[in-house]
Amino acid sequence: MKTPVFVQLHHDSAEHIRQELIQGLTANAQPGGATVSPKFLYDALGSRLFEAITELPEYYPTRTEAAIFKAHAQAMARSVPPAATLIDLGAGNCGKAAALFGVLAPRRYVAIDISVDFLRGTLDVLQRQHPAMDLVGIGLDFSQALDLPPEAGEPGSGPRLLFYPGSSIGNFTPAQALVFLRQVRAACGPVAGSGLLIGVDLVKDAAELEAAYDDALGVTAAFNRNLIYNLNRLVGTDMRLADWAHLALFNRLESRIEMHLVAQRDLSVQWPGGQRAFSRGERIHTENSYKWTVAGFSQLLREAGFAEPQVWTDALTADAGRFAVMWAGA
Ligand code: AVJ
Repeated sequence: MKTPVFVQLHHDSAEHIRQELIQGLTANAQPGGATVSPKFLYDALGSRLFEAITELPEYYPTRTEAAIFKAHAQAMARSVPPAATLIDLGAGNCGKAAALFGVLAPRRYVAIDISVDFLRGTLDVLQRQHPAMDLVGIGLDFSQALDLPPEAGEPGSGPRLLFYPGSSIGNFTPAQALVFLRQVRAACGPVAGSGLLIGVDLVKDAAELEAAYDDALGVTAAFNRNLIYNLNRLVGTDMRLADWAHLALFNRLESRIEMHLVAQRDLSVQWPGGQRAFSRGERIHTENSYKWTVAGFSQLLREAGFAEPQVWTDALTADAGRFAVMWAGA
């Protein structure tokens, strides 16, 4: 049996994180006022709350994507290269990729997450199930740059299958998404047949979108408001849970769901070395989740240097076209 290889490339100091958060909190000038990056939603509790979100009746993306993978697995297997190096961007518990091992038959699996510690246990278990597969866990924040280390395998040694499910691409603005997809295109390497398999959430009714991000049980509200605990811990702010409400709205002009925390009264947030006043109703913008059309995202892929994609949607179910999985050859 082989053993997984692990490497941690991303290191962020507590002071750097604090500076980044304070900069976002005090940003008046930029449209929308104060902002906090959505990456701070995913501490240990936030990650668990997100997993709970994926089980909610209103949150259709996860189960719709899973149904598309299931219904079209054979067609996908005919499109993607055999015996590829499967590079999973944002692997988490590796469940989505592992579910496809049977049909995609990769030779090597490279799981990337912000912290390699999230990957250790999972890859150890996967190795027992797939003793001959090369397994690599990489701790990397590719939101700035997608630089794969040598552990990911020689780019020229075989085809690469980059995997970016879950509509995580929705956290990027269209301009950022283009920059990112160009880097993914470069990371595909020189071997023919390489490409990107990606899940993309599609534009739909505002009511359905807003319900998916403001569920009746209040799990998404808890996920968003957990940021308050996070800020208090990471910055030393004195924010109180009762002062901040969850807001999710579909901004059709920008084609994105926005999540905000809304101040419930005039208040001041204090931290060691600074403070900021918020009026009642003032917001902290905590996440964007862009929604694409199939035509719009296909165009973006072409601009990033990919071939015309193959597209699978939930077109066979009653309320069709909620989500798309696309294969784009490099
Ligand atoms: C993990 C970014 C794909 O945008 O749907 C879910 C995050 N935020 N509910 C999404 C999220 C609130 C999710 N992504």
